[in-house]
Amino acid sequence: MAPHGDYWHGNFCIEISPIPNTIIIMGASGDLTGRKLIPALFSLYSRGLFHEKSQIIGCGRTVMNSETFRNQLKENLENNIAAQQSSQLHDFLGKVSYLSGDYDDPATYQQLGLELEKLEKQQKPEPNRTFYLATPTTLYPTIVPLLGEHSLTAEDYSGTPWRHVVLEKPFGYDLQSAEELDRLLHQTLSERQIYRIDHYLGKETVQNILMLRFANIIFEPIWNRHYIDHVQISVAESIGIENRAGYYEKAGLLRDMFQNHMLEMLSLMAMEMPGSFDANAVRDEKLKLIRAIRPFPLNDLDKFIIRGQYTQDGDMSGYRDESGVDPKSNTETYVAAKLLIDNWRWRGVPFYLRSGKRLKRKLSEIAIKFKRVPHSIFAPIKSQDMAADMLVLNVQPEEGMALTVQAKKPGPKLCMGSLTLDFKYNEVFGGQTRDAYERLLLDAMLGDQTLFIRSDVIAASWQLFTPVLNAWQKFAAEVSGNPCPLHHYPSGTQGPKAAEELLKQDNFSWRKI
Ligand code: BG6
Repeated sequence: MAPHGDYWHGNFCIEISPIPNTIIIMGASGDLTGRKLIPALFSLYSRGLFHEKSQIIGCGRTVMNSETFRNQLKENLENNIAAQQSSQLHDFLGKVSYLSGDYDDPATYQQLGLELEKLEKQQKPEPNRTFYLATPTTLYPTIVPLLGEHSLTAEDYSGTPWRHVVLEKPFGYDLQSAEELDRLLHQTLSERQIYRIDHYLGKETVQNILMLRFANIIFEPIWNRHYIDHVQISVAESIGIENRAGYYEKAGLLRDMFQNHMLEMLSLMAMEMPGSFDANAVRDEKLKLIRAIRPFPLNDLDKFIIRGQYTQDGDMSGYRDESGVDPKSNTETYVAAKLLIDNWRWRGVPFYLRSGKRLKRKLSEIAIKFKRVPHSIFAPIKSQDMAADMLVLNVQPEEGMALTVQAKKPGPKLCMGSLTLDFKYNEVFGGQTRDAYERLLLDAMLGDQTLFIRSDVIAASWQLFTPVLNAWQKFAAEVSGNPCPLHHYPSGTQGPKAAEELLKQDNFSWRKI
């Protein structure tokens, strides 16, 4: 393996350090806080990206005092940090406090208001506030209005200091519920204050899509229907639903992965070039792209989008056997879809998207298959015998990108084959890829919404998928003649056969997971 950094030249690294923020985590005693948020904040702290005057207030239903909370966090962090960081842990935890209370009790918000006043009043200028709602999303309609009623999220006309609210997905259940949630949020918050997370956007490899496309001259001329044959976007997981039956039974894969992560990756890959790397410029282009996706034909749904569910295989349980799952559940754990984009750039280029749980292995990638050369000068090798070029963006777990081209093999004069130019993050940058939450928390503290989802983008994505969800619900019963049946697949495999058929009808096949 080459030493790190050998292939890496030039360094334009700009990381801005946030000014003081008070971070208020609602749902602080929950899993997300301990597993993702606090480790990400600590890592920012140890990188000098957490202002020394910033503070963290955890707020949760579990009754405990600040010391117990800090001890819990300490124990968790100690197991996951490098030895040289442990000296910083004490100082970092000194910035953390805890407040217990019920989310529907106004007294919680009064108390929080007093705490905030105590922490912030001696500081000049007054710190910004970042509220992070790490609670179930069903609590948003309770928490957001109460924060507003107690003036905790109120900003004055200047917008400084700002009050930002970070929200976890899902944003609604369908178009109507997403719009209702949006109306409710906008009663006390302006869109500029709302930071809707899609953690895929915090991944380095996903952010790299824009840099690859728009910081190089060579891709743009071929990034269209004249040169691209088709695109495959896959997000495969080997795990099942773990202990999330309560959520997953109601959500299913289309809501859990497609409406957000998959569409976000598709839009970054396919959108037009924004005028700048500015939050609204980028999100305007995403919106245009999502709105250009052709609606699914409801009378021919199974030719465009199919759903599947994993079954038991060996010692891997089936979805219906998972604890908390209805033994007759029709919730999908796999979706494959063919999307067409009706604009000049993409007309006629199929985009195949698939995602599933309990597949053969964990793998997220975007594979762009180019067209073959129209004519071969290397007779007797015909153009149709030559492999097409392919660019694969490996999102995870082996982050990188690989470009496969045709090349001459040393030896006989006519000896041609595929050669892969393979770049792996790990080999070049060592273990430097950071958890997506670090990027997203930093950006929320900096007031940069580029990697957060705007409300109209969410509405457009629900507009696309809500008719499919309705059709699936209507044809939920497993009876013969069902126009959009649930296709079962054994755990640990490539997914349902019907997904293969989806591509076969166009003479393509999926890349192996
Ligand atoms: C989450 C989904 O948003 O993304 C989970 O709710 C899924 O069901 C997870 O497992 C996948 O994220 P990652 O980063 O592991 O690919």
